[in-house]
Amino acid sequence: MPRAHLAIAADQPGPVIDRHIFGHFAEHLGRCIYDGLWVGEGSPVPNTRGWRNDLVAALRQIRVPNLRWPGGCFADDYHWREGIGPRAQRPRRINAHWGGVIEDNAVGTHEFLDLCEQIGCEPYLAGNVGSGSPRELREWVEYCNAAAGTLADERAANGRREPWKVRLWGVGNENWGCGGNMTAEYYANEYRRFATYTRDFPDAKIYRVASGARNDDYHWTDVLMREAFQGPIGGPMLQGLSLHYYTVPPDESWPPSGHATEFDLKGWKDVMAIGWKMEALVRGHRAVMDRYDPKALTALVVDEWGSWYAPTAGTNPGFLEQQQTVRDAVLAALHLNIFINHCERVRVANLAQTVNVLQAVAFTEQGGGRLVLTPTWHVFSLYAAHQGAQRLAVESDAASCKHAGLDYPAVSATASLAADGAVNVTLCNTDSEQPAALALSLTGRAATAPVAQVIAAKTPNAGNTFDQPRAVTAQPLAGVVLKGATVQVTLPPGSVASLRFA
Ligand code: AHR
Repeated sequence: MPRAHLAIAADQPGPVIDRHIFGHFAEHLGRCIYDGLWVGEGSPVPNTRGWRNDLVAALRQIRVPNLRWPGGCFADDYHWREGIGPRAQRPRRINAHWGGVIEDNAVGTHEFLDLCEQIGCEPYLAGNVGSGSPRELREWVEYCNAAAGTLADERAANGRREPWKVRLWGVGNENWGCGGNMTAEYYANEYRRFATYTRDFPDAKIYRVASGARNDDYHWTDVLMREAFQGPIGGPMLQGLSLHYYTVPPDESWPPSGHATEFDLKGWKDVMAIGWKMEALVRGHRAVMDRYDPKALTALVVDEWGSWYAPTAGTNPGFLEQQQTVRDAVLAALHLNIFINHCERVRVANLAQTVNVLQAVAFTEQGGGRLVLTPTWHVFSLYAAHQGAQRLAVESDAASCKHAGLDYPAVSATASLAADGAVNVTLCNTDSEQPAALALSLTGRAATAPVAQVIAAKTPNAGNTFDQPRAVTAQPLAGVVLKGATVQVTLPPGSVASLRFA
């Protein structure tokens, strides 16, 4: 087996990897909020003020930096006033986007921000542009962030005296589609208008994210940067511009028809190749943004990404429930590697979605108490070491693969230098059949034996279920050999690994 060489520039620390690229997303969709994160105070499932304790603990463990809410498409149909005040008096509405079920607004602003405090993450609130008004969004910001005034008094009367000082605000979601079917030109104008009234309050400066492009819609990015980057007094009016891209096998056609667990070699490669398109998309959107903003003042915010398969048989198709396998673990690692490699511009990203929906990090039993962590959760646990660290360049001579006319790497790697001086390396082997033999060298550092972990499975279709919750987890990686100035490791087929050099 030929050995690929990876040279890590350990003595040349680069830009900081923003911890917010490891963010998550929780929409009022299927069993993500209700019967997922939220079980309600009266539930036999152990909870704190309605939020299930085991899930909160699992999210704390992977150091979730931010959680986006309430959508997604739900956001542009959501009116925040319906989710405050006594629960019994909150309106009940049909969730028109997702499954046609009754939304009783049991989870609103106070509940969600309590969840973020329990997890220890920043909230990222998505405001309503499509069916809302600048006044409605302005008042939501004021309700959350103002220390005094009528809305602060109302917040206090509802149980919260101190402002939450929410920093991250989305100004609409997918406004080219479910958020109002707008043109780029129309939305850019709306963005300017809404952003004007999305105000900073004393001690609560906010970070506005404009609704961005889908896939390779570079025109959208171009128009937003052209029309909305420069504010009236010179500074950028946009702190972030979003991008949404999902991995939809077998060929990106809609509705998604790929099977989450029953796939052959072609099905594995489809996901690798379509997933790696994110690299070209980030590169493309970065190039457009660079033209208007060469100093990268505005971040590219990839606030929806992940795999999207046909829904699990027997579930409500509007709930977007899908199983997952080690294939999704490798897909997650590829994405995180892309974001790290572009961390000069990509400073926030959100996996869709936290629990029970799309590429979730956990599943909860319907109406029951069991919880299972997915292979993707284990990837986030390995990658947490990169949060806030300085990126190190990795030069690799690993081969490139081609499938369906698309390129993707045989081995993808990232490295960073942590504040405690440790070098953390993350690697994935995209080949589901062959192991990958690697030799790593760290410039400016003597080779030492790393702590090595790996996420792998006996078959590419393996995943975690309620009956077998630990089929795919991080385990010690055996066979690490120190040879002269290099460290030799062999990654099992279709796997994700981490090496920590203390
Ligand atoms: O994550 C599911 C949906 O995908 C979101 O609501 C929407 O923004 C996107 O199209």
